[in-house]
Amino acid sequence: MTLTFDPHQIAETLYHGQFCPMFIDGKDVPARSGEVLNVVDPASNRALATVPCGGAEDVDAAVAAARRAFEGAWSKFTPYDRQEVLLRIADVMERDWEKLCVSDTADMGLPLARTLGNKRRVIGMLRFYAGQAVALHGDVIENSVSQSMFSFTTREPVGVVGAIIPWNAPTAASIWKIAPALATGCTVVLKPSEDAPLTPLMIARLMQEAGVPDGVVNVVTGTGREAGARLAEHPDVNKVVFTGSTATGKTIARAGVENLKRITLELGGKSPLIICKDADIDKAVPVAAMAVYAHSGQICIAGSRLFVAREIQDEFIEKLAAFARGLKIGHGLDEGTDLGPLINRVQTEKVEGYIAAGKAEGARLVTGGARPEGEGYDGGNFLEPVIFADVTDDMTIAREEIFGPVISVLPFDTMEEVIARANATPYGLAAGIFTRDLSTAHRTVKRLKAGSVWVNMYHAIDPAVPFGGLKMSGYGKEGGVEHLQAYLDTKAVWIQTE
Ligand code: NAI
Ligand code: MG
Repeated sequence: MTLTFDPHQIAETLYHGQFCPMFIDGKDVPARSGEVLNVVDPASNRALATVPCGGAEDVDAAVAAARRAFEGAWSKFTPYDRQEVLLRIADVMERDWEKLCVSDTADMGLPLARTLGNKRRVIGMLRFYAGQAVALHGDVIENSVSQSMFSFTTREPVGVVGAIIPWNAPTAASIWKIAPALATGCTVVLKPSEDAPLTPLMIARLMQEAGVPDGVVNVVTGTGREAGARLAEHPDVNKVVFTGSTATGKTIARAGVENLKRITLELGGKSPLIICKDADIDKAVPVAAMAVYAHSGQICIAGSRLFVAREIQDEFIEKLAAFARGLKIGHGLDEGTDLGPLINRVQTEKVEGYIAAGKAEGARLVTGGARPEGEGYDGGNFLEPVIFADVTDDMTIAREEIFGPVISVLPFDTMEEVIARANATPYGLAAGIFTRDLSTAHRTVKRLKAGSVWVNMYHAIDPAVPFGGLKMSGYGKEGGVEHLQAYLDTKAVWIQTE
């Protein structure tokens, strides 16, 4: 990738330790308490900016604004008007795409080539839902009550949506939640992660520029424990859409029960990637590596349980280790960086704890696991990518979501066995298989219990294709036409015609 701009310079212009207010009812506001949160660059742990540490009273103000907008100005927008707004948002975000990506990378570390590369998925999502906004419809249904009775359904927006997102993809997660809300006529209060709140604030302002009326999209920065918890329990929030850990997802589902909110949960995973003995090894190695290392392992779909056919495991591990050692670790804004930092110190230590557990429980450390030393690594949360071999299903590293650059290689002998082992997890977000045999692929896809299954590749996501997990990975889909249904209520209407 050759850049035509200097990302560090853009980052410095955007964030130089200043206060970035939150966005409620179309206005820049501080927290009512006056408290702030420090926002840092995980590659250096240096301060980027401060944001308001919003509390319950700020969430209440944002929900009230969202309710007023829902019943007021926004309700006057026809589907065609909402489509135009979504298309304008896509245009202004496309215009500022590099700035948005620099902001994301500075705040959460994902290498810039990857944030830039998400353009289709994010801008495409806005344009996809712009199309859907004018395709909403109810049905006329024949009833048997009486021939003089006419029955039909209408689809109405659920109302105020609370969106709670993690730090690993702030721009994509914001759009994945806001775009369907705007397409259906809902309004939104978004609570970004305290670890990466900056880009969602920028996005809210771009939406205002694109013609989104005040109060339709509000962003409250703050902690999960206070701002997040208030949004999840708020009696005037009709729906919550959440991406994050399974533990927090459960808390949110419990909090929502009080007013029976509709809830969509996109949670963690421990996804299996199966390499069959007839796989194209040279094609599979880089895919298997990046299925985990893409965001230093901090992706919900990380293919962290790598099942490799025993016949080919020596060759596979050797090539995988060579690939891992060749990856360049560095600041996400530096050209050529393959692996950025982990999000914070706590996460880094947590991952190191898993690496220690892997060794203690008898897995063989093939490569990685140390903090890289030298220029550029001082003060950042860097870890060398890890491969463990001889991993067994009962080991901690094979069972728990690590959210770090750790691949566990688990050998297998038969397809019957590997399918059962792949499914023997509480999670069900994603899975993958490499094989040249079409019937093996089909048979295995059918039996894998996961929301997305990739064959001879990994990681593909598209606005039109639904994405979401099974089991403890959550419920509901994002993306695709299906996602819209979660933002709509159905009303049945009966008319006596005589
Ligand atoms: P988290 O699930 O605690 O946080 C995600 C979002 O939920 C943040 O905006 C946070 O402020 C909010 N939140 C936290 N507690 C809340 C509560 N009680 N009520 C309402 N909102 C709340 O995840 P965190 O702390 O960032 O990461 C911890 C672990 O979670 C990671 O190590 C990883 O294993 C997992 N995780 C999984 C993600 C995924 O995409 N599946 C994304 C982020 C984290
Ligand atoms: Mg940050």
